[in-house]
Amino acid sequence: MTNGAFLSCEVARKASATAETVFETYRVPYREGMTVLDLMRFIADELDGTFAFYDHACKRGFCGSCLVKVNGKNSLSCRQLVPEGRLRLEPAMKTAKDFWPAD
Ligand code: FES
Repeated sequence: MTNGAFLSCEVARKASATAETVFETYRVPYREGMTVLDLMRFIADELDGTFAFYDHACKRGFCGSCLVKVNGKNSLSCRQLVPEGRLRLEPAMKTAKDFWPAD
């Protein structure tokens, strides 16, 4: 991937804790050094204001609150660079909505 390119990612969406998970595809502009957390922030800010995820933590790989599944593997989204090729994001923990943690 190069700067100026777009990437396509499949993102798990869930309207509530008991709702069925569906996958939505977003097209996001790629930039060098972009993390998965950056990508999620872009989706929430620029593409879909209904997308819920937790973004109020250390962003340094210490707290673990940003854990998500990236292509099926648990990853700290604040440290995980956006991989080349296929990208599929799912919550790693139980959620109340999308990627927002359940109580
Ligand atoms: S935000 Fe704390 S580990 Fe990622």
